[in-house]
Amino acid sequence: TPRVFSGIQPTGIPHLGNYLGALQSWVSLQEEFSSVLYSIVDLHSITVPQNPDALRDSVLDMTACLLACGVNPAKSCLFQQSQVPEHAQLGWILSCLTSLPRLRHLPQWKMKSESQKNEGSVGLFTYPVLQAADILLYLSTHVPVGDDQAQHLQLTQDLARIFNYQYGEFFPIPRALMGSSKKIRSLRDPLVKMSKSDPHTLATVRLTDTPDEIVMKFRKAVTDFTSEVTYDPEKRPGVSNMVAIHSAVTGLSPEEVVKQSRGLETAQYKHVVAEAVITKLTPIREEVHRLRGDKGFLREVLTRGTHRARELAAPVYDKVCRIIGLR
Ligand code: TYM
Repeated sequence: TPRVFSGIQPTGIPHLGNYLGALQSWVSLQEEFSSVLYSIVDLHSITVPQNPDALRDSVLDMTACLLACGVNPAKSCLFQQSQVPEHAQLGWILSCLTSLPRLRHLPQWKMKSESQKNEGSVGLFTYPVLQAADILLYLSTHVPVGDDQAQHLQLTQDLARIFNYQYGEFFPIPRALMGSSKKIRSLRDPLVKMSKSDPHTLATVRLTDTPDEIVMKFRKAVTDFTSEVTYDPEKRPGVSNMVAIHSAVTGLSPEEVVKQSRGLETAQYKHVVAEAVITKLTPIREEVHRLRGDKGFLREVLTRGTHRARELAAPVYDKVCRIIGLR
């Protein structure tokens, strides 16, 4: 049976990349699939150092953001990963099927271990195995993610195949679902993705940025020296990123927004895109602020989600244990 699963780390307010690359489709998939799970993956976030109080707050903050984007707890199961112990337990079992060389060149490890003097923790290294466990624990079939998660999805597919080969058919092979905005780029450097950990504050637009901040960030966005607006991600990554964002927030195709913008200089065009982003984000920002004031409600949503996720996870994990001889 088809089932959607996806996750997001609770490290800070989601940015436009998270929203356009993943969260927007999380919302629409709730209408298309009858079984949908979204997880706030706090176990993944502690693969790099986190402040305990900030981490606690960030889980509720992320809950507010997801609800504000349109994740609807009546249609999908929204839960906190660490509250379902089977994620870590299945992660261990899958780690015993994973070879060291397979993990060494995966992006999360390569990027984050470089920036850490100690070369990163074992948890950071096995991060993608835990991600595979998240997905396989629910026998998920569809995983909406951005482009940066493609290699993690491949590992998940490989681990499902390895398990099935060794023990007999059990896990479905999950498919990545990627929309047209699978890679939103930094506003400061269009050669890299928009990223939560980018130290440059102008590089990312967060869902709670004020209209003034959004206008300023787009005004300073790095493009190139051609004033015409065209869509050519290879040759003109900066302007094309503007077009991609414009297209994603309006629902029009890149060709249509380029046509609409004929005659505008890029400086003027950036302002048009900023306005379109503001129109899209204003109701979300307002809803985040409203929901943040109701922590009791946010906790209740997570508690209900966790309860449901446990009900789904326990029998699958039990079956896995039986299959491999642990019961
Ligand atoms: P995370 O928290 O970094 O990002 C959440 C989602 O946002 C997407 N994304 C982007 N899409 C387009 N352009 C960008 N610039 C951009 N930046 C981020 C990500 O692809 C992701 O879909 N490892 C995952 C979390 C995870 C997970 C899972 C996902 C843990 N277990 C199981 C799916 C299934 C991560 O760090 O996402």
